[in-house]
Amino acid sequence: MPEKIILAYSGGLDTSVAVRWLAEERDFEVLTLTIDLGSQPDLETIGQRALRAGAAKAKVEDQRGIFVERYCWPALKAGALYQGQYPLATALGRPLIARRLVEFARLEGATWVAHGSTGKGNDQVRFDVAVAALAPELRVIAPLRDGMSMTREQEIAYLEERGIPVQVKAASPYSVDANLWGRSIEAGVLEDPAAEPPEDAFLWTSGLDRVPAQPCYLEINFEKGVPVGLGEKRMSPLDLVHHLNTVGGEYGVGRIDMVEDRFVGIKSREVYEAPAATILHVAHRALEELVLEAEAARFKTLVAQEYARLVYQGKWFASHRQDLDAYVDSSQRFVTGTVRIKLDRGTARVAGRSSPFSLYRPRLATYSAGDEFDHQAATGFIKLVGLPLRTQAVVQGIDGKSTTPD
Ligand code: ARG
Repeated sequence: MPEKIILAYSGGLDTSVAVRWLAEERDFEVLTLTIDLGSQPDLETIGQRALRAGAAKAKVEDQRGIFVERYCWPALKAGALYQGQYPLATALGRPLIARRLVEFARLEGATWVAHGSTGKGNDQVRFDVAVAALAPELRVIAPLRDGMSMTREQEIAYLEERGIPVQVKAASPYSVDANLWGRSIEAGVLEDPAAEPPEDAFLWTSGLDRVPAQPCYLEINFEKGVPVGLGEKRMSPLDLVHHLNTVGGEYGVGRIDMVEDRFVGIKSREVYEAPAATILHVAHRALEELVLEAEAARFKTLVAQEYARLVYQGKWFASHRQDLDAYVDSSQRFVTGTVRIKLDRGTARVAGRSSPFSLYRPRLATYSAGDEFDHQAATGFIKLVGLPLRTQAVVQGIDGKSTTPD
């Protein structure tokens, strides 16, 4: 009896070949699992394609709502942006797919899981580490890394020889992974970090020559750090992200071009488009500025960095993340209010913010009549703040030049 293996199946050429390769070369009974996280796949066709490629069973699932609520929202609340820029779309999607692989494997009594990552990127780490954390007894194989080395032409021939229909689309010049939190684009001409990404790399966002001439405003409502609607309208997480991707995309918002430090040690040129994630991070940060006390706000930036790094490095199921989530959730208890965002020619800027928990006190901040700030207290405050430097200047000299007697 062949052992059962669950393959994360995207419907693309690589994983279609992998279905057959795992059966023929590694003697597995292959079951496929396709997860929709918002890249708009035709789920029914994908299932049929897996079966035609030789899968014993093909399961397809819509996990978009779960993805936004349980993966994107925690990252948003944490302020998690890798290298201060990348909202982590791909990195957040992988652990959810890994979790479903593990659950399906247990249901089917499979002893192995498989995924289509190469041996060069972060995704292999994320899948393998997530599976190790959730089901240490399961074994993982990544065909593209672990022996199935074929060129695109060889892959097409491999399927044709076996009578498996191949939809040969024109080869994409890029390697793309997309979900609701963003679209990751790499390879091809993007590998030259000196060259501007060509317009055809972008699918969700308009170039500046095609954006509306008039700006538009969005009023985003947050409750405890979570966006809950626009203006008067409450919206489901899925609808909200979907809507922001659409309008943000029209305005050309959320293009990111960066040189990224991959976990496997190399620098890589990465291009992203993430309109909703970009808008929501800008708005969320603006609200935090208003309601977080100064020390808490400063510390939160450290937590954000730690959180982003952990997600990027595939440690989503680490207890460290649970601990960070506990801190983040606590930090969000006053992050309730409304942020007005202006979309204008590729930018999303804060136009206004308000909250019932705002720590901004007009009477303390004003330079006009009604000022309640204690100006006299400033003198004593400055005297003590400056005391260590004054002492050092007197004893050790100014600017490193000694004034003390030899
Ligand atoms: N560099 C990004 C990350 O590590 C995106 C990876 C995208 N994967 C892909 N197959 N194009 O999260």
